[in-house]
Amino acid sequence: MRFAAIGCFLLALTACERERRDLRPSPAKVVVFGDAAIQSQILPGGGAPRASVTNPFQGNAYAISEGQRLFGWYNCTGCHANGGGAIGPPLIKDHWIYGNEPANLFDTIVKGRPNGMPSWGAKIPEYQIWQLVTYIRSMNNLEPRSATPERLDTIEQSSRTILPKSEGEPR
Ligand code: HEC
Repeated sequence: MRFAAIGCFLLALTACERERRDLRPSPAKVVVFGDAAIQSQILPGGGAPRASVTNPFQGNAYAISEGQRLFGWYNCTGCHANGGGAIGPPLIKDHWIYGNEPANLFDTIVKGRPNGMPSWGAKIPEYQIWQLVTYIRSMNNLEPRSATPERLDTIEQSSRTILPKSEGEPR
């Protein structure tokens, strides 16, 4: 009996692996320009190998909450509201202009986009851009549920609850 209790205690001590938090991320690495993000299925000269870039914060709950804070901090809300869109397009949706893969979102935020999205590459450190990417994906239920807060402080939770303004208009 006593051994069982000690066993349980030891198991409780060792079984739970805590989420790793990198409280001092290294300074921004060289930002990946070029073919990190897929912008079109059409490739010159046929399928060349694509650079693959993975989100270092994929599924990380701390990164999602930091991303949410930064989304307000850098005033993304000024143009995108809480994801529902304002003078900028909504960021909770099914059809993305520039793609919703982590590398696409990273690319959009770093470089900016021609119709009014500023470039943030020189202003926001790389790890914070990945946190924003993770937050934007969590708003779209693209991050694991276990890492996403039950209720995000956004106006909508799911792209399925937002209706297109009119047929053919980009959302
Ligand atoms: C000055 C207004 C403005 C601010 C501030 C702004 N955006 Fe944007 N954003 C836009 C506009 C306008 C577009 C559409 C650009 C286009 O279609 O070429 C856009 C597009 C995007 C897209 C791509 C959407 C798609 O469908 O592919 C993402 C992602 C995005 N913004 C994220 C952010 C983040 C994160 C921030 C804060 C760091 C931010 N934006 C701040 C105006 C803004």
